[in-house]
Amino acid sequence: MTVSITGKTKIFGLLGYPVSHTFSPPIQNVAFQANKIDAAYLPFEVHPDNLKSAIEGIRSLQFAGVNVTIPHKINVLPYLDEITPTAARIGAVNTIRNDRGKLLGTNTDGSGLLRSLSALSFSPKDQTVVILGAGGSTRSILVAFAEKEAKRIFLVNRTWANAQLLVEEYAPLYPETEFKVESLENLFCQAIDLLLNTTSVGMKKGESPVDLAKFESLERVADIIYSPQQSSLLKQAEHLKIPYINGTGMLLFQGIEAFEFWTSQPAPISLMEQKLLKLLNG
Ligand SMILES: NC(=O)c1ccc[n+]([C@@H]2O[C@H](COP(=O)([O-])OP(=O)(O)OC[C@H]3O[C@@H](n4cnc5c(N)ncnc54)[C@H](OP(=O)(O)O)[C@@H]3O)[C@@H](O)[C@H]2O)c1
Repeated sequence: MTVSITGKTKIFGLLGYPVSHTFSPPIQNVAFQANKIDAAYLPFEVHPDNLKSAIEGIRSLQFAGVNVTIPHKINVLPYLDEITPTAARIGAVNTIRNDRGKLLGTNTDGSGLLRSLSALSFSPKDQTVVILGAGGSTRSILVAFAEKEAKRIFLVNRTWANAQLLVEEYAPLYPETEFKVESLENLFCQAIDLLLNTTSVGMKKGESPVDLAKFESLERVADIIYSPQQSSLLKQAEHLKIPYINGTGMLLFQGIEAFEFWTSQPAPISLMEQKLLKLLNG
């Protein structure tokens, strides 16, 4: 794929530290080309000490928009002019749009995951969900589920206090949803619509955060891990014939939502998906 640069090319990019592992440039550049948008997307490695000047650079160089990744998603907040209510509730931003010098931040991680869950015919309203983990990605997912009026969210985490902090923060904001920290054993006999792994357990071969065979009534399983593509958790789901998805869809749709936030155009989803799958499998 060649990107042709003109005098009018709009510049988009990714700010992270590191950024060498990212799939975003090929996926976003394919989308700009397919939609005939004169734009290019580049990776920018920004040391944490330089974050403020990098954000000022977006304004002075008139970049059209950027994604923000680890470790900048929270620290970038003070440098923006405005953030969406969703990003404010999550407390982190992964996408910034430059509206004529005004920087607007949003967060597409949770909404991206939600869109990926349509592959399991899942939407959160009135559903009971078990979330394993209480880290950065969990926050965006909790907000996405609660905004769509999930009935009950059980949080299971190695460090109970981290999950309890999330419950204390979000339960008052979303009275329609019941939030509870729970131990796994107490959930085995519950009717669960979705079990979602948001921990990093499963990135190493053979490790699984839970034994799925112990659940009596479990409709669906999702893992936000995408490498490996089939974690041990998902291997169990396949063996038990429980419908499941991995984290590729979340990765894809957070990028699709960023593209749509920047361009106000529908993204070429299948092209972006093909590109991502080729990169992940290649
Ligand atoms: N598909 C996507 O687009 C996407 C997006 C973001 C993240 N991810 C993946 O999601 C995973 C989590 O990312 P994150 O940014 O949320 O990480 P994070 O903020 O560091 O949180 C990690 C979570 O995993 C738990 N954990 C870590 N090691 C554990 C262990 N050995 N046993 C039990 N629990 C353990 C932590 O529990 P404690 O609270 O006890 O420390 C915490 O709840 C990573 O694998 C990442 O690659 C995927």
